[in-house]
Amino acid sequence: HGYDLLVVGSANADLVIRVDRRPAAGETVLGSDVATHPGGKGANQAVAAARLGADTVLLARVGDDAHGRLLADSLGAAGVDTTGILAGGAPTGVALITVDPSGDNSIVVSPGANARLSVEDVRGAGELLAAARVVSLQLEIPIDTVTAAVGAATAAGSRVVLNPSPPAPLPAEVLAACDPLVVNEHEARFLLGADAGDTPEDWASALLVQGPRSVVVTMGAAGALVADPSGALRIPSPSVEAVDTTGAGDAFTGALAWRLGTGDDLETAVRFAVRVGAAAVTKAGAQASFPTLEEVTAAI
Ligand code: RIB
Ligand code: NA
Repeated sequence: HGYDLLVVGSANADLVIRVDRRPAAGETVLGSDVATHPGGKGANQAVAAARLGADTVLLARVGDDAHGRLLADSLGAAGVDTTGILAGGAPTGVALITVDPSGDNSIVVSPGANARLSVEDVRGAGELLAAARVVSLQLEIPIDTVTAAVGAATAAGSRVVLNPSPPAPLPAEVLAACDPLVVNEHEARFLLGADAGDTPEDWASALLVQGPRSVVVTMGAAGALVADPSGALRIPSPSVEAVDTTGAGDAFTGALAWRLGTGDDLETAVRFAVRVGAAAVTKAGAQASFPTLEEVTAAI
């Protein structure tokens, strides 16, 4: 295994406006100047891991445009291996993001080139898939592409980490490969439907019945819950001043996936990842806010 981590996923330009409050339907509000940041759940995970020191490679598709170059620069500067970044087919994905005074965000994504990351692209990246200890995925790329990558990763003996965001139905073979499936409340409720239950413990045990080997439920400022068939455990997060939560979940998952690849058990990896996620909420932007290993060990 030549890489600690292969991320298969999205790369977006994030167009961010801070607002006092979000507009209702039919309403107009004024916000801040627009900031353009490199983002996308896949690129965010890759940057988070690389900045911590992981040998990381990203399989993704961007457009042949200025946003694509913004992403390539950010990924390169963080030390992500960019040989798996394909260009062309559609404009780079764009995320329209509003951030409110409490640091919470809401996001609309135009997938653009992310929607063109294909099963063929996965086949073409066979060497990368075979060379990574852990393969981490999200759902801003086509589900057939996710399914093909999970199949190839499993065949190569790699560990699969999946954050089903934005939520969508998952094929049984994808669920069965996840170790862990990483969900927030919203994603857990989507996958479980009406009988989800009320607590992270409820969601984790119901999700385990669907086939993943382990489940991590992220709980924002409250930390995360780790669960496998032997039991469940809550891991608290350090408390921090939230500036911008955008990408904090991706930083958490990228850090978690890397630590699992280095041999940490799931609980140890989550204890580390909650500190990375907490650091990420203290600064504006997604990738721009992700800490180095020194910052994680020193500051929190
Ligand atoms: O998870 C945060 C990310 O979601 C943003 O960077 C945005 O691009 C969307 O993909
Ligand atoms: Na942030």
